[in-house]
Amino acid sequence: MAFAVSSIMLFVLLFLLALSATSQPYRNVTFGSSLTANNANSTWLSPSGEFAFGFQQIIQGGYLLAIWFNKIPERTIVWSANRDNLVQEGSKVQLFADGRFELSDPRGQQIWAATLSRVGLTYGAMLDTGNFVLANNSSVVLWQSFDEPTDTLLPTQTMNQDGRLVSSFSETNYSRGRFLFTLQTDGNLVSYTRNFPTDDVIFAYWSTQTLGSGFQVIFNQSGYIFLVAKNGSLLNYVASNAASTSQFYQRAILEYDGVLRHYVYPKSANSAGGRAMAWSTMDFIPSNICMRITQSTGSGACGFNSFCSLGTDQMPNCDCPVGYSVVDPNDRMSGCQPKFAPQNCDEEAHETDLFSFTEMPNTDWPLSDYAYFKQVREDWCRQVCLDDCFCAVAIYRDGNCWKKKYPLSNGRVDSSVGGKALIKIRKNNATTHSSGSKKGNRSTLIVTGSVFLGSSMLLNLLLLSCLLLYVLCFNQQKSRRLQPNQVLPGPNIRRFGFKKLQEATNGFKEELGRGAYSTVYKGIVKNDNIENVVAVKKLHKMATEGEQEFKAEVSSISRTNHKNLVQLLGYCDEGQNRLLVYEFMSNGSLSNFLFQSSRPNWYKRLQIAFATARGLCYLHEECNNQIIHCDIKPQNILLDESFTAKISDFGIAKLLKPDQSRTTTGIRGTKGYVAPEWFRNLPVTSKVDVYSFGILFLELICCRKNFERDVEVETEMILADFAYDCYKDGTLHLLVANDEEALNDKRFDKFVMIAIWCIQEDPALRPTMKRVVQLMEGSVEVPIPPDPASSITSM
Ligand SMILES: *[C@@H]1O[C@H](CO)[C@@H](O)[C@H](O)[C@H]1NC(C)=O
Ligand SMILES: *[C@@H]1O[C@H](CO)[C@@H](O)[C@H](O)[C@H]1NC(C)=O
Ligand SMILES: *[C@@H]1O[C@H](CO)[C@@H](O)[C@H](O)[C@H]1NC(C)=O
Ligand SMILES: *[C@@H]1O[C@H](CO)[C@@H](O)[C@H](O)[C@H]1NC(C)=O
Ligand SMILES: *[C@@H]1O[C@H](CO)[C@@H](O)[C@H](O)[C@H]1NC(C)=O
Ligand SMILES: *[C@@H]1O[C@H](CO)[C@@H](O)[C@H](O)[C@H]1NC(C)=O
Ligand SMILES: *[C@@H]1O[C@H](CO)[C@@H](O)[C@H](O)[C@H]1NC(C)=O
Ligand SMILES: *[C@@H]1O[C@H](CO)[C@@H](O)[C@H](O)[C@H]1NC(C)=O
Ligand SMILES: *[C@@H]1O[C@H](CO)[C@@H](O)[C@H](O)[C@H]1NC(C)=O
Repeated sequence: MAFAVSSIMLFVLLFLLALSATSQPYRNVTFGSSLTANNANSTWLSPSGEFAFGFQQIIQGGYLLAIWFNKIPERTIVWSANRDNLVQEGSKVQLFADGRFELSDPRGQQIWAATLSRVGLTYGAMLDTGNFVLANNSSVVLWQSFDEPTDTLLPTQTMNQDGRLVSSFSETNYSRGRFLFTLQTDGNLVSYTRNFPTDDVIFAYWSTQTLGSGFQVIFNQSGYIFLVAKNGSLLNYVASNAASTSQFYQRAILEYDGVLRHYVYPKSANSAGGRAMAWSTMDFIPSNICMRITQSTGSGACGFNSFCSLGTDQMPNCDCPVGYSVVDPNDRMSGCQPKFAPQNCDEEAHETDLFSFTEMPNTDWPLSDYAYFKQVREDWCRQVCLDDCFCAVAIYRDGNCWKKKYPLSNGRVDSSVGGKALIKIRKNNATTHSSGSKKGNRSTLIVTGSVFLGSSMLLNLLLLSCLLLYVLCFNQQKSRRLQPNQVLPGPNIRRFGFKKLQEATNGFKEELGRGAYSTVYKGIVKNDNIENVVAVKKLHKMATEGEQEFKAEVSSISRTNHKNLVQLLGYCDEGQNRLLVYEFMSNGSLSNFLFQSSRPNWYKRLQIAFATARGLCYLHEECNNQIIHCDIKPQNILLDESFTAKISDFGIAKLLKPDQSRTTTGIRGTKGYVAPEWFRNLPVTSKVDVYSFGILFLELICCRKNFERDVEVETEMILADFAYDCYKDGTLHLLVANDEEALNDKRFDKFVMIAIWCIQEDPALRPTMKRVVQLMEGSVEVPIPPDPASSITSM
């Protein structure tokens, strides 16, 4: 019985084996074999079935003779014969008995043919490497697709001198596009912009600088891509992050955006190891193409009038400035056109007043300038561009002013750029939004400035000129219950007419403070015959993008309600006027209070520290939409009549989509309240506020400014460094010399330690504000803080 069962099983097994062997017959492409372009997808497969050779329909009635990865759902073409010349349905590729291998259209016209190295072609074969070969009867290769790459290299493929990859025109258009990657006969491996549509090149944006030595680019079986010399010695890794070829499909492609990327795709869920079953990038060059391409002709890394910025995924994005729209919505590199009529140069037209600016920090269009002025003020720069009908954009940076004309080229946004772009747009189009590419909803930044100037004008001016503050908000899970129409400000918020606020402030007479982007005036608002003193913050022209965005900001601010936040009472958005009405804080700002001649009481100072910490904790953790303040400093902490501290100037915000919360923006600046990641092109998170709070906390503890020139010892100049030195040396009492109250407070050491935790250079080491409050309240033990700068090298 047992024998019978096992022999049946053996039989079944043998039968199945025989079946599987015949069900996937792999055959050579022999004389007379052909494929026809039509909807029935006849293909020639490789033995494993991983690669296929055949026709791919690209557009209605347009076919590409191609090789592709056949076992994954995403269409991934690695080679094609007729990328610039799609063929119609009914076209044919055929191996003729006279040894020709040709693609011809339905009328028999030759479209493409393999150029053989010698005669004697007898068969073709699709190999498991992704190489399609034509060979003679003793299997000597006469032609192979690996020798004529389009934009892709595969493992085991090599590229010899004069070999080239030309990028596709776009994600969906496979014809030859704007970039070239080539191993030149002089031995240099170079990426160029192409002088589209010709074959010339314009600008080399990456190279191995191996003149005279580069011999071959190798994509080896282990997944490394490198350049070798003739004697085989390794010159340069093109991509040095390898992945196993047995577990991953791999390819290196010069993509339509000019970046050469090494991609991998798990062959099975097993090998995915948590990785998505999708193509993911292992390595890419160059690291920031936006900054690499600065060419005197041609548009740069993106189209004309657009700007390039690196996304969080390290992909270059091409976007349009506010007031501009993309020329071809299907091609994000097609450039941008203004949505408004250009300025009329006719004197009679008097159009100067009809234009204004939107500001973009860290933005430039190098090489498009036609006028340049040194040592001028920003308002002068603005006016000189407004008065000039040729001026499309002015760049203002470090007291220099450049006027730029159309078409703008080489546009980029990067923290290393500095300064700002003033983009001229017609006012009646002011409310139109940037409609960049389909990756367009990027964090167009709302810039806000410090409002209340403290006692140190110099320091503030310095900070103001350096700090471009972005308040980033994002919807969290808990914000689900927001109404769909979330741009309507909350019910307790009053909408004011501009005239009403003009009256309330007596014609904007009494100025309470002034920042780069707004001015605050004292006013009196009557409501049911009750007079309320208010602070009216007038945002300078075009500080915000448009009505909807302004409403969104007001909405997010109005939803906050905490005793340590300055309450928003109303707003005004009439025409170009954007104003916010706040409760008036009679005791002014903390900077006036803290840095006056007589030292405020220790416990009062602690109360302010607690209040600020709680207010911040609320903004980060408890309000519907997380609000990152980005500008915590004494000037932005206000005191009411009972000296309760309240945070002001928060939420001049742009609501971001959750996936945009980790945005990489940057600012230039000096060491102050600004967290170091601003300068390092790292994601900005709520931890920037923790850093600023840490500095503020030290100032409150020590009752001195973060930076003080008039000190006895040079090492005491920067409070943050001084504090850590004292902590390390066990001399904390030096921080509060003569302050008996502080010295007698048992919690004193602990507070300094908390502040040191907050100012860690590595954002990940800083506690959250919630944690900070817990530590301050004493509900958790404070661990020993590391040297704030100890992690600096790893960043
Ligand atoms: C393909 O043709 C070559 C040369 O005739 C031969 O050596 C090889 O075995 C053939 N392969 C298959 C799968 O038929
Ligand atoms: C085309 O190929 C797909 C996937 O290999 C297959 O499911 C489909 O049936 C084929 N269509 C035709 C018309 O052969
Ligand atoms: C194939 O080509 C090689 C190289 O030219 C040659 O040596 C060989 O004889 C050819 N084989 C046949 C069967 O023609
Ligand atoms: C190729 O070789 C096979 C035997 O190996 C032979 O039958 C066939 O006729 C040859 N083909 C040509 C075109 O020479
Ligand atoms: C692809 O782009 C080229 C260059 O702009 C254009 O000539 C061609 O028509 C496009 N092809 C398709 C299929 O859209
Ligand atoms: C190989 O060639 C490179 C570049 O031409 C040279 O620098 C290197 O010394 C050579 N190595 C050997 C072992 O000859
Ligand atoms: C591929 O290249 C890497 C780096 O040069 C080397 O370590 C590895 O052994 C190579 N693999 C093969 C199969 O040649
Ligand atoms: C912008 O203004 C121009 C002329 O003033 C007008 O033709 C155009 O339609 C406006 N565009 C939008 C999007 O409002
Ligand atoms: C961009 O915003 C529009 C309108 O808010 C939305 O429909 C679209 O899906 C967004 N696109 C992306 C890529 O987020």
